[in-house]
Amino acid sequence: MQHIQLFLQGEKPDNRTAALLTAAACGVGALVVLMRTFNSRRETKEKVQKARDRRTESLQRAEQSVLRYKQTHPTTDSALILTLSLSELTKQLQEGSLSPEDVFYSYMEKTLTVNKKLNCCTGVLLESFDQLKTVGSNKEGLLYGVPVSIKENLAYKNHDCSCGLILNLDQPAQKDSVIVEVLKKQGAIPFVKTNLPQALLSYDCSNPIYGQTLNPHNPQKTSGGSSGGEGALIGGGGSLLGIGSDIGGSVRIPSSFCGICGLKPTPGRLSSQGLIPTYRGQKSVLSSPGPMAKDVDSLALCMQALLCDHMFSLDPTVPPLPFNVQTYQSSKPLRIGYLENDGYTQPSPSMARGIREVKALLEQAGHTLVPYRPLKISYALCELGVRGVFADGTTTLRQKLKWEPLDPSLRAQLFPYYLPKWLKNILSVLLKPLSPRASAIFSALCGVGSVQDLWKQHAAVEDYISETIADWRRCNIEVLLCPSIGPAFNFSYCGRIATVLSYTALYNLLTFPAGVVPVSTVTAEDEEELKHFKGIYQDTCDKLFKQAVSGGEGLPVAVQCVALPWQDELCLRFMKEVEQVVKQSRK
Ligand SMILES: *[C@@H]1O[C@H](CO)[C@@H](O)[C@H](O)[C@H]1NC(C)=O
Repeated sequence: MQHIQLFLQGEKPDNRTAALLTAAACGVGALVVLMRTFNSRRETKEKVQKARDRRTESLQRAEQSVLRYKQTHPTTDSALILTLSLSELTKQLQEGSLSPEDVFYSYMEKTLTVNKKLNCCTGVLLESFDQLKTVGSNKEGLLYGVPVSIKENLAYKNHDCSCGLILNLDQPAQKDSVIVEVLKKQGAIPFVKTNLPQALLSYDCSNPIYGQTLNPHNPQKTSGGSSGGEGALIGGGGSLLGIGSDIGGSVRIPSSFCGICGLKPTPGRLSSQGLIPTYRGQKSVLSSPGPMAKDVDSLALCMQALLCDHMFSLDPTVPPLPFNVQTYQSSKPLRIGYLENDGYTQPSPSMARGIREVKALLEQAGHTLVPYRPLKISYALCELGVRGVFADGTTTLRQKLKWEPLDPSLRAQLFPYYLPKWLKNILSVLLKPLSPRASAIFSALCGVGSVQDLWKQHAAVEDYISETIADWRRCNIEVLLCPSIGPAFNFSYCGRIATVLSYTALYNLLTFPAGVVPVSTVTAEDEEELKHFKGIYQDTCDKLFKQAVSGGEGLPVAVQCVALPWQDELCLRFMKEVEQVVKQSRK
């Protein structure tokens, strides 16, 4: 203290004093940092505990309400209600042969059971109990009386959109997202929020606040992500319609892993107002909200309900294009491009078999199938996709994660993000002969250097989209049938295998609508064939992929259907076609 006073009084300190001063300053500095870390750790812990308590309390209150309802309504046939498809359910609700209360409480009860097994919910929206009382005034709505689950990052008034980040806790949304508002207007009842991975960064589904979500078909496997809570809840029967979001496969992967249908619409077709991303401003690859459900008709009904004047007036940035029922219901034979292997990631045996079987069924049904290969896939994924998403060299993301404890599922994935640019560049060069795919990713994680480079990057993405559209025209195809990643992975693998995203992320970059439909389950033969899986590059990612999908017998297998931008109805119609031919082949 004396030394500091001397210093302040302007006396020239001798060397010893200087050394002591430095030491003291360092000590104080260290103490401040320690205190800050300590305080922020304690604060972090408290915030997480509060969020968990909120979840537990909402679940308990919902459970009590369900019990009370069951006591006063002993004749409700919940088991029957839970077997109805969305179109049957909406019909019976509109006719009045089913009451919204019976439907709501049946699904609420089932959701609570499924959540206990799979840890898929981040909280019950207790406001839904009040909405139920007044839902009769929306009897004309297309989703009158339908309980709907929503992904945690979709704003619902007075509830957090944490995106799995502790930083974002205790900042409840000021108002409903446009999608939630329109759902309510159409008579739907958003009743529960569902889990997602930390910072929405993975196609797994785990975060330090709410933990890991499990797969409804095998709890040893992940539900996939990032809309993994939706996948698990719908796949487990606790919800029959949900809203997820997709920037690299986040609707399609959990749908595929959990055996349900999911659509990633053309970005911009549905309002993204109130859909919270981890960071904003990134324009190379756009995210879009999308429906997830047990069958394609449910996805179509949800799109039809959302694409209404109410949405167009709430969010005038959305093109006022109502759902084209005619396109969806058309039975004109289709010209379908197909691929079993994209030349970048060798598909698992069940992924490839799914394509072969569906291709044959579609041909039998009178459609024309043409082999197709995506253009310059490695360039598109790394140079356009990864470099675009991380154009800032991952700076914004790292700022978001600064005070966050990292989820174990993300550690391996995030490690390279923290390396300095020069080291990423060196590693990219060194890795080139060993693993060209890893090398390209390390290089892409450096981002772009200047505004000029960013503009060039955006122009290159536009060029790639035009070239691909021209290529579809040249091949004379309207839609594309391609593999859907699967079956569901073992835990801790998603964060280490970015390469498989070639099957989904390409269509985000292209802004093409894309959806998945379950078509089969993994057989013992698939499992046997997997033993001989080598991969195209035979690098670490190929080895890890083989391990990740091992032991998957009985798990759902899906295919993916893609269409050109704004042809969301055609994409759904194609998905419906796939669903039908598969259903007929089982008879
Ligand atoms: C993956 O999980 C399955 C199912 O639990 C198991 O049979 C298999 O051995 C696991 N594979 C690896 C490589 O851990």
